[in-house]
Amino acid sequence: LSALQTERFGRQIKYSEEVESTQLVIQQLVQAGAEEGALALAELQTAGRGRLGRVWHSPKGKGLWFSVLLKPEWLNLADTPQLTLLTAVAVCRAIRAVTSLDVGIKWPNDLLVGGKKIGGILLEASVENGSLRHVIAGIGISVNLAPEDYPAELLEKATSLSIAAGTKIDRAALLNRILTELEQVYALYRTEGFAPVKLLWEALTVSLGRRISSTTAQGPIEGFAERIDDHGALSLRMDDGSVRILYSGDIDFR
Ligand code: BTN
Repeated sequence: LSALQTERFGRQIKYSEEVESTQLVIQQLVQAGAEEGALALAELQTAGRGRLGRVWHSPKGKGLWFSVLLKPEWLNLADTPQLTLLTAVAVCRAIRAVTSLDVGIKWPNDLLVGGKKIGGILLEASVENGSLRHVIAGIGISVNLAPEDYPAELLEKATSLSIAAGTKIDRAALLNRILTELEQVYALYRTEGFAPVKLLWEALTVSLGRRISSTTAQGPIEGFAERIDDHGALSLRMDDGSVRILYSGDIDFR
């Protein structure tokens, strides 16, 4: 990453050909005293993790599979969902800048092109005595995967940047831009709070103003996705006029 333009993000880089998960690599870096912005990047993950306990398909050399260490020690635990939205904003802006693709964010942080998923974000927080120690932001982007790189059942709902753009994408340039955007949006968040980040997220989302469904611990629900609240949770207007708040999980468009 010769042209890195950041001050702290990606200044320490642990690059590997093959790892189980870059999330685990960062955990090791934390033990060794790594600073905020440390980056773990791998060509291949043998046990890539997705949200909600799912597996993240991470074939060799074609994606950007990486994790970044954040140490927002000043942040209230209740506000950590905001970091999820912040990361999605940074990645979405970077992809748009590098590829000109019309990428949108599906709540909370899936990245979609033409209704299909091209990337996802997994935030894992470490908490000690009720306060936040560090957060590992895992970012997976299907950059140059070809249709034959996907299991058939994934192709229905997933695609890659190169398939969508019809051309190969420079992975180093994209990673560079993501780190720059992440550092900038994170600095904005730190100085100005969540409000400006929320505005950026709202401008990039495809989730608001639509009917959605989701499965909650109490069963399936369906409602109108009205807004994001101040913690980063999704506020739904139900058919009886009441409001339901979703803090995590998955949504489907109706
Ligand atoms: C999701 O949409 O479910 C989140 C996917 C996150 C995948 C990335 S790839 C780099 C990092 N390491 C992992 O094991 N997972 C994240």
